[in-house]
Amino acid sequence: MQTYRIAAIPADGIGPEVIAAGLQALEALERRGGGFRLDVTQFDWGSDYYRKHSVMMPADGTEQLKGFDAIFFGAVGAPDVPDHVTLWGLRLPICQGFDQYANVRPTKLLPGIVSPLAGVKPGDLDWVIVRENSEGEYSGHGGRAHRGLPEEVATEVAIFTRVGVTRIMRYAFRLAQSRPRKLLTVVTKSNAQRFGLVMWDEIAAEVSVEFPDVTWDKMLVDAMTVRMTLKPQSLDTIVATNLHADILSDLAGALAGSLGVAPTANIDPERRFPSMFEPIHGSAFDITGKGIANPVATFWTAAQMLEHLGQPQAARRLMHAVETVTGGGVMTPDVGGTATTKEVTDAVCEAIRGSN
Ligand code: NAI
Ligand code: MG
Repeated sequence: MQTYRIAAIPADGIGPEVIAAGLQALEALERRGGGFRLDVTQFDWGSDYYRKHSVMMPADGTEQLKGFDAIFFGAVGAPDVPDHVTLWGLRLPICQGFDQYANVRPTKLLPGIVSPLAGVKPGDLDWVIVRENSEGEYSGHGGRAHRGLPEEVATEVAIFTRVGVTRIMRYAFRLAQSRPRKLLTVVTKSNAQRFGLVMWDEIAAEVSVEFPDVTWDKMLVDAMTVRMTLKPQSLDTIVATNLHADILSDLAGALAGSLGVAPTANIDPERRFPSMFEPIHGSAFDITGKGIANPVATFWTAAQMLEHLGQPQAARRLMHAVETVTGGGVMTPDVGGTATTKEVTDAVCEAIRGSN
């Protein structure tokens, strides 16, 4: 029996609610007899930890996580702690420290969920967005001078390296190749950003030669929002920079019904370090503690985690259970239902128990 060591970091807001739901579903899968076991360790890092220790995680935090097979992450962010402190104090050091350079964000209209786009049915919207996750606009390069004075200046430098762009393009082309439509859209802004993004386009063209069976095209990021909205059927796999994909994937989540169903995986494709799996959404202060957080994004990212760990059958079983439950109308209010987090979770566990 294969055992995987999982580090659970529920962190802030609805993070603990959805991670508890996700762990309950994973336990149901284990008991269903998938031939694997999960050994879960909980970490209490996040904004509560920050209030006690003035840091979001201990100095040796990433060292502590190194030996795990995967990280299962909730959300960070609290009303009384600045967002750049929470994000740069916990989530980004893990992504960057473990070189999780491929951020994979599937979006699909699940059965029973109505898209805000009129007439769009399940099957019309089935995308995977690959977000460059280590450099670009979020590399952390920049600074501030003359703080507080009228002449204060701040720079935020977008970094694009040949190594960084080539590896994400290769990852995206390979992923597109593995999907039935073998279709990739490269998002760019090389009309206005004439250095980094022109190199981005050139490297896309170079890497495409290695994948002759993948059809690909290029879209400017602004036009991409229009295409996602008006012609969702024309898209399949999408690759974009850190900032562009951050924005486009929130749009994708909304078009698929709610941020509450959108998952993400922060992958180190070379498997030198643990990869991290999380819902896309944040800590959602407005619904924290109400018991109505949608756990579907967390179930979906748990399925991505199982896939990454080499348990594709368990991953399929989990997604099948989720689709059975949404199709049956057991859903939280964000997607038009009346169920609680607990009711959706219990229904998914029940569907797992009854699955073949
Ligand atoms: P958010 O994703 O927390 O919430 C946006 C809206 O979506 C809210 O109305 C919320 O109720 C709803 N929503 C989100 N997840 C939901 C779920 N599972 N079920 C039902 N409804 C859901 O984004 P917001 O409000 O911009 O940020 C709140 C905090 O979260 C901030 O501190 C922000 O920095 C942080 N954040 C953290 C992220 C992370 O940890 N990866 C990602 C995004 C934001
Ligand atoms: Mg975002």
